[in-house]
Amino acid sequence: MKHILIIGATSAIAEACARIWAQQGHKLFLAARNETQLQAISADLRTRGATHVDHQAFDALALDQHAALLAAARAALGGLDTILIAHGTLSDQARAQEDVDYALREIATNGTSVVSLMTLAAQHLEAQGHGCLGVISSVAGDRGRQSNYVYGSAKALVSAFASGLRQRLSKRGVAVVTIKPGFVDTPMTAAIKKGALWAKPDQVARDITRAMEGAGGDLYTPRFWWLIMFIIRQVPDAIFRRLSL
Ligand SMILES: NC(=O)c1ccc[n+]([C@@H]2O[C@H](COP(=O)([O-])OP(=O)(O)OC[C@H]3O[C@@H](n4cnc5c(N)ncnc54)[C@H](OP(=O)(O)O)[C@@H]3O)[C@@H](O)[C@H]2O)c1
Repeated sequence: MKHILIIGATSAIAEACARIWAQQGHKLFLAARNETQLQAISADLRTRGATHVDHQAFDALALDQHAALLAAARAALGGLDTILIAHGTLSDQARAQEDVDYALREIATNGTSVVSLMTLAAQHLEAQGHGCLGVISSVAGDRGRQSNYVYGSAKALVSAFASGLRQRLSKRGVAVVTIKPGFVDTPMTAAIKKGALWAKPDQVARDITRAMEGAGGDLYTPRFWWLIMFIIRQVPDAIFRRLSL
């Protein structure tokens, strides 16, 4: 029986993970901004077999609420051993180039708010000496590209932070999974034309829940994104500058 906190639980990818965990009979605590959506998802997860489902309205930008959220989840579930941080926004790169406040808000949503939650989650899991922290970063964090480097740099922060955290916590019985999805067909990407490289949330969720059973690591999902990003990282800067990625 796992005691699972999902932050950004109304995300399509997070909801697909929650359905798998509900079918496995685990206890769930959902946190997200939209109370109405939280209620509907909670009701659905109960019918799918979750032993317990609770929820709390939560805005990741309210940093002063982060510690209270973890405490509330722990109290409601009677323990906390699995934490998935999933919230995020796909930044409007053109707007971010003109509007510094917007750019910094995007970095806060996708980057620094996640760092705050990872730090608090790590403190709790390290103290109890077991558990798993999964955080959804992105392949976009592997190399800054002109088309989305504000979003990408926030995800790079998350990936590097999670890498260090994993190294630290692996000696303390705690697994850290850095989840790097490629293109996933969710509300976040509704406006983007779909093609062969696109995956569905259910497919990605199967990879995530499986990876969060293990010892931690970087999860490229679907798996072929590992090769794509390996190649993109190798492209020499002089050539990379001429590409229109
Ligand atoms: N879809 C992709 O292609 C893709 C690729 C790589 C990585 N990712 C990452 O995967 C994660 C899940 O995204 P998704 O694709 O499932 O998209 P999604 O369905 O649009 O989910 C994004 C979620 O983040 C929540 N959120 C945004 N700002 C928040 C805040 N300040 N506080 C709390 N929640 C907030 C949104 O809540 P509201 O409904 O209240 O706005 C929404 O539930 C994100 O971290 C995203 O960056 C997605």
